[in-house]
Amino acid sequence: MSVVKKEYKRVTVKSLVEMKKDNEKISMLTAYDFTMAKIVDGAGIDVILVGDSASNVMAGHETTLPITLDQMIYHASSVIRAVQRALVVIDLPFGSYQSDPKEALRSAIRIMKESGAHAVKLEGGKEIKESVKRILHAGIPVMGHLGLTPQSIYKFGTYTVRAKEEEEAEKLKEDAKFLEKAGCFAIVLEKIPAKLATEVAESVSIPIIGIGAGNGVDGQVLVTHDMLGMTHEFHPRFLRRYLNLYEEMNNAFEQYSEDVKSGEFPNDEEQY
Ligand code: KIV
Repeated sequence: MSVVKKEYKRVTVKSLVEMKKDNEKISMLTAYDFTMAKIVDGAGIDVILVGDSASNVMAGHETTLPITLDQMIYHASSVIRAVQRALVVIDLPFGSYQSDPKEALRSAIRIMKESGAHAVKLEGGKEIKESVKRILHAGIPVMGHLGLTPQSIYKFGTYTVRAKEEEEAEKLKEDAKFLEKAGCFAIVLEKIPAKLATEVAESVSIPIIGIGAGNGVDGQVLVTHDMLGMTHEFHPRFLRRYLNLYEEMNNAFEQYSEDVKSGEFPNDEEQY
């Protein structure tokens, strides 16, 4: 497979579709604040997701359900101020789009208007059809999210691999086709068998970004705090840790505490 790597000064929804055509894999990571977003963007990551995983990572909730639209807009605005190149996608949080399509559009408009974000992401397939269509009609790019959809965790009961059975796999394939036809610019597939994810990626023209969905898709996304090893209690098979920041930060904090208590910090050069 020959890979053409174009330079993108600014990544847009069109660039992502072009990357798929060019067999260039798409890199995506989460960010929820200015400082992290600046580093992620500076490293050339194509898409920054202000995920509702902020509910877990930033606020310490057990699930993604409690985070509010106002809180998502706060995180999104902080990220947008830092980003120069990446496409910034914001999760519509639980409760901001499921009840009716007009509310879904109102929520998406608030995100776009108040944060300056570039696109929104919604969990679900045909069951959120009217909301997806209404948001797209307003000119707001939509990323889909199928497979393990954490906002439905109480329906699933566990965070285990989804769509292992034929019936759920068939529904997922149909939902991916539906989201493509409706006009979504990409779809996240979370925690499903790699073979199924590859099949979906090959059956649609829009990029499929995987998390725990194998290597046959068009790009990968991870939660930044997980891949940096800051969340050391979380060990899913799909997670590759690029650093062990939990330990490194812990060591730095212990050293600082020791230096303060011993009077070693600040020294003569570190004062006025
Ligand atoms: O909220 C999030 O971080 C996500 C990713 C896991 C795709 O939706």
